[in-house]
Amino acid sequence: MTSKIPPANGRISIAPSILSADLWQLGEEITRVEKAGADWLHVDIMDGHFVPNLSFGPAIVRSLKGKTSLPLDVHLMVTHPAQFVEPFVNAGADLLTVHAEAQDNVNDVLQQIHALGIKAGVSIKPDTDTAVLKPVLDQTDLILVMSVYPGFGGQAFLPQSPKRIRQVREMIDNSKRNIWLEVDGGINAQTAREVIAAGADALVAGNAIFSAKDPVRALYQIRQAS
Ligand code: DX5
Ligand code: ZN
Repeated sequence: MTSKIPPANGRISIAPSILSADLWQLGEEITRVEKAGADWLHVDIMDGHFVPNLSFGPAIVRSLKGKTSLPLDVHLMVTHPAQFVEPFVNAGADLLTVHAEAQDNVNDVLQQIHALGIKAGVSIKPDTDTAVLKPVLDQTDLILVMSVYPGFGGQAFLPQSPKRIRQVREMIDNSKRNIWLEVDGGINAQTAREVIAAGADALVAGNAIFSAKDPVRALYQIRQAS
């Protein structure tokens, strides 16, 4: 397998989250954001245990692969990510992000993902000390800072997030590696400005794009903020 996601390159990537899309018209919604200049597509996977909600499985990734040219950024909010790595890579994920709070050894899971040829990321929930990221810095391709408690779309951006993003930006810069700094939760044109100023270079947005009257305009507004 290969990954369509390049190493971090200083450009801002916008990743609409299909959690807030209308599944009846998923294809059309994706085509629209793709034409509007989305960079990646964010796919939220929830197991009802790591977070109190259920969402999608590998089948949705399989059905998106080949239909959209957008790289598939898969966010695994699951207690045991190791068992799902192979199914999601085979389904066509370009990036698999696992949580530092999950119960499997994170470095082992990152290795498992890389061995299958795609990019790997690590996410932290809002209350997790950013110091837990130190041991993964030499392996990860992306760090995903949650700016809401994971589980649901449409929540308000947590005000402590910019400070945490700045801490992670400093860790990434000190590592001298090309690591994406992605932020997820409550992103709209206004919070996009704040997180970019704090050092983010990949933004997930669900509600602000797919629940907007005009998703294309909403995406442009987030782009303008960058
Ligand atoms: C939350 C998910 C997010 C979610 C973001 O658990 O990880 O990706 O879709 O949604 P908004 O942008 O609506 O906060
Ligand atoms: Zn997500």
